[in-house]
Amino acid sequence: MKAVALAASVLGATSASIHAEQITGDIEYGQYLSSECTSCHSNQHTQQGIPKIAGYTAEAIVTLLHAYKNKELENVTMQTIAARLDDEAIAALAVYYASLP
Ligand code: HEC
Repeated sequence: MKAVALAASVLGATSASIHAEQITGDIEYGQYLSSECTSCHSNQHTQQGIPKIAGYTAEAIVTLLHAYKNKELENVTMQTIAARLDDEAIAALAVYYASLP
């Protein structure tokens, strides 16, 4: 999938900085924010082409959400959602989703 390939390349390019500074976020805030996401993203399985993001690494979620925010990834829905998330919200969602199976 294009997004995953992009995430992999972005992660590869910036892995030094990402590993130097581990992602920290408020899991409870992330869980609170995720109520908006679960209407589309099931935590159990991919449905109707919408990927299950539960269990992604925090790095992957941060990278993907920033890519939507910067419009490097083309999905208007996700671009709109990501545009409203600040760094604290993105980090919180990332650590929450990474904590799920
Ligand atoms: C209205 C439906 C909808 C909502 C709400 C929604 N998403 Fe998405 N999201 C999508 C769709 C559709 C895609 C797949 C886009 C594609 O494949 O191009 C996606 C893709 C993603 C991806 C990339 C997954 C991958 O493997 O490429 C992430 C990460 C993501 N969403 C996170 C979130 C988060 C976090 C929230 C809540 C703040 C959220 N989404 C809310 C529909 C939604």
